Amino acid sequence: MPITFTVVGTRDPRVEELLRATDPSASTTWIADLDTLLQAETSRLDILFIDVRRDHRLPAALAALKRKFPSIHVILIASTLDGSFMLEAMRAGVNECVAEPLQQADLNTAVNRVLGQRAKAAAGAVFAFVGAKGGVGTTTMAVNVATSLAALSPGRALVIDLHLAYGDAAVYLGAAARFSIVDAIENLHRVDAEFFSSLLVRTSSGVDLLTSAERLPTKPIDSKRAASVVEFAATQYPYTVVDVSRSDPTALDALDHASTIVVVANQELATVTNAGRMATGLRSRYRKAKVMTVINRTDRRSEIESHDVERAVGASISFQMPSDYRRALHAMHKGRPLTLDNHNELSASFQALAEELAGVKRERVAERPAGLMGRLAGRRS
Ligand SMILES: Nc1ncnc2c1ncn2[C@@H]1O[C@H](COP(=O)(O)OP(=O)(O)OP(=O)(O)O)[C@@H](O)[C@H]1O
Ligand SMILES: [Mg+2]
Repeated sequence: MPITFTVVGTRDPRVEELLRATDPSASTTWIADLDTLLQAETSRLDILFIDVRRDHRLPAALAALKRKFPSIHVILIASTLDGSFMLEAMRAGVNECVAEPLQQADLNTAVNRVLGQRAKAAAGAVFAFVGAKGGVGTTTMAVNVATSLAALSPGRALVIDLHLAYGDAAVYLGAAARFSIVDAIENLHRVDAEFFSSLLVRTSSGVDLLTSAERLPTKPIDSKRAASVVEFAATQYPYTVVDVSRSDPTALDALDHASTIVVVANQELATVTNAGRMATGLRSRYRKAKVMTVINRTDRRSEIESHDVERAVGASISFQMPSDYRRALHAMHKGRPLTLDNHNELSASFQALAEELAGVKRERVAERPAGLMGRLAGRRS
């Protein structure tokens, strides 16, 4: 649904022009004062702009309006921003302020922040996968975990390919998309449930996908905007899986909303060294997230053993995915995640990781029949 702007104050063509540029699809209503809003039974306003440039005074009805409709977001348009007035405004429930000279960028930032606060309302879990080195199997793991999560909660798992360009998730999911993460980032100001959904592809594995773009963005991308896309996704899906580009600072900087960050490693010295550095860096950068390391393509005969990796990353390795190149490659060629076909060790490993991430009770795992599945693939006892 397009957002609605309501402006209190006289109709200023400059404000009108800025609002139209902020979101061409938004509907804008102009009102003389807040009393009519206060009389309403329900509020369908998204953002209320209060223009106080003439008298530099907050409308008396603002506090009452915020009490009656706490979900209304208020942006103040002032001639200057002085500390005591801003404090008074915040106490009365103003969320953001913009001041003269009115700039498009300031208005966009204020609107994006407000929309971001709205998005925080109900957030699902976000699982971000980052490879300690290229080619370790990060995308394979991300799409298979997402497919298992979609099986736990049908239609409710999303993969975001956070490679701004040339990501592979669409190949692994057998999908072709018209829109990409860059469209979401560039149109952040108009991202609502309907618009966001129109950017996604529904894949045959039950996972929805926001793909990477087919070409590099023409201008630099702000990681905060990428983070806001992830944040919005989490309001729409109980499970969002992010395939993160390890070499793009925009992607690595956009994990503010991750609940868990999975560093994917293997048993090669260069990868293990990087995994240690990355796990340490990610832990200090994202204190709210759980950072875990998973070994993919486990080689039981490697001279680097799991306890060596544990020492490097400073934490235990709870999952080691077996190596099954033929099956992994076949699944990629078919565009059909291998967890859709059970009864193999690798598939069971990905499912076990998905269950762990989703907090599905261990007993379910323990109840699995003995045999191949019962060995529970990579899960260590
Ligand atoms: N557990 C596994 N056993 C064997 N082969 C695997 C396994 N996981 C992934 N592969 C294979 O490894 C290759 C690289 O996988 P993938 O594209 O997922 O890696 P990546 O870390 O995402 O790479 P990139 O750094 O290019 O994004 C693919 O051919 C994939 O089929
Ligand atoms: Mg990849």
